[in-house]
Amino acid sequence: MRGRFITLEGMDGAGKSSHLSWIPDFFASRGIKLCVTREPGGTPLGEALRQMLLNTTQKSHPDTEALLMFAARREHIAQVIEPALSSGQWVLCDRFTDATFAYQAGGSGLDWGRIEQLEAWVQGELQPHLTLYFDVPSQVGKQRTQSVREPDRFESEGMAFFDRVRAGYLKRLKQFPHRMHLIDSTQSYEDVKVMVESIILSNCF
Ligand code: TMP
Repeated sequence: MRGRFITLEGMDGAGKSSHLSWIPDFFASRGIKLCVTREPGGTPLGEALRQMLLNTTQKSHPDTEALLMFAARREHIAQVIEPALSSGQWVLCDRFTDATFAYQAGGSGLDWGRIEQLEAWVQGELQPHLTLYFDVPSQVGKQRTQSVREPDRFESEGMAFFDRVRAGYLKRLKQFPHRMHLIDSTQSYEDVKVMVESIILSNCF
């Protein structure tokens, strides 16, 4: 049987990475060994593109950014995601196409329809079965990232950019209410964990 495809989303500082640390064990304790991967990245080419996209202070044209995200994604689907799903393995991906809608369309103002075209071309029928969207107001996200590390290309954007990123995510959530689940990530770590566990249990088992 084909595996399931689960994605984690949220603006920088929303807390998805800290929850990524326990989710694979949660699945493992129920007999499912996840293939854990990320975007941009997940393949040698994808990781090289990630370096180019994030470790820079220079902004590229939003079309260029979106095309590079989808180039990395095409390779990732071909080399990692599709082979795993076809062989019955479940895949957990830290960000996927919802991030391109939120960041390149929402944040950077690229036309939504353009990304839908790229999505159809690159993914065909492939969509996540379940998306955990960690939601925080942009001030909270910004504060959290500033306090832990040097900001990368996107993290150094201003508050207005992150307001638009969040609006982009919320627009996707409205479009896909069955697939995407909003987690109020302003709650304590423990409360968020309980929420995530309950969404996983009711959607995956
Ligand atoms: P992260 O994986 O550490 O959260 O960082 C990835 C960064 O790349 C994050 O700021 C969001 C950004 N990004 C996009 O702008 N578009 C995309 O399609 C993806 C996957 C990520």
